[in-house]
Amino acid sequence: MNDKMTIKDMNLHYSEFHALKDVNLNIGAREITAFIGPSGCGKSTLLKSLNRMNDLIPGCKIDGDIRLDGEDIYGDMDVNLLRKRVGMVFQKPNPFPMSIYDNIAYGPRTHGIHSKAKLDEIVETSLRNAAIWDEVKDRLKKSALGMSGGQQQRLCIARALAVKPEVLLMDEPTSALDPISTSKIEDLAVELKKSYTIIMVTHNMQQAARISDKTAFFLLGQVIEYNDTETLFSLPKDKRTEDYITGRFG
Ligand SMILES: Nc1ncnc2c1ncn2[C@@H]1O[C@H](COP(=O)(O)OP(=O)(O)O)[C@@H](O)[C@H]1O
Ligand SMILES: [Mg+2]
Repeated sequence: MNDKMTIKDMNLHYSEFHALKDVNLNIGAREITAFIGPSGCGKSTLLKSLNRMNDLIPGCKIDGDIRLDGEDIYGDMDVNLLRKRVGMVFQKPNPFPMSIYDNIAYGPRTHGIHSKAKLDEIVETSLRNAAIWDEVKDRLKKSALGMSGGQQQRLCIARALAVKPEVLLMDEPTSALDPISTSKIEDLAVELKKSYTIIMVTHNMQQAARISDKTAFFLLGQVIEYNDTETLFSLPKDKRTEDYITGRFG
C-alpha cells in the first residue's frame, strides 16, 4: 500500500512541554487510520500538525519530517494549498452562520470559483458525497444553524469536501452526536475512503475497530503501538495497549 503521508522522527513542544515524542507513522492512501488513546495524550496535537493548524500557537515548535505525497509540508509548501489538500472536521460541528448553500460554496469561492452553475454543481456533489443532500435539498437557502447536530456535522464534512481535499482529518467527529448520527458518519467515512485518505481521532474503541484499517495507540505523547486495526485489537504487542483496549485504564 502506498503512503499518503509520512511522519518521521517528529517531536512537538508547547514551550517547555514535550507534547509529542519521536513519532513515526506512515498513513496509507485511501485507508482510514484511527488515533486512539486517553485524553491529553497528543492525538489532536498530531492531527493538527498534519495541516499546520498549530502554526498559530505561540511557543509551538515542531521538529522532524512530515510529508504529503513525499513533499515536506513544513518546507516551502504554501499553507493555504496544504489546508486545501488536507481538510479538517472538528469535534463540535461548526457551521458558519450563513445558509447551507453558502457554507459549502464558501471554500470554492475563496479559491476563485464564482460561476453560479459551477458552484451549484459543487454544492450538490459535496452534499451528496456527505450523505445529506436528500435532507437539505429543499432548504439550501436556509440557515445552517437550524439543522440538527448530526446534520450539521455532515454539512461540515460536505464543506470540507467542497474544496476537493485529498486527506480528511476528523477529530472525534461523532463525540457530540447521538447513536444514529454517529452511525451515519461512520458509514460515510467508510464510503469516503474509496476516494480520500482519512485520519480519525476517536475516543470510542468500538468505532476504531469497526471502521478503521490501521490504528495507532497513543500514550503520553508517544505512539505505543501502530498496526492493522484487527491485529492491534486482537493481538496487541504492548501490555499498555492491551490494558487500554480491555478497558483497564483511560
Ligand atoms: N495550545 C496548547 N498549549 C499548551 N499545551 C497544549 C496545547 N494544546 C494541547 N496542549 C497539551 O498537550 C497535550 C496533548 O493535548 P491534545 O493533543 O489535545 O490531546 P488529546 O487530543 O489526545 O486529548 C495535553 O497535555 C494538553 O494539555
Ligand atoms: Mg483531542
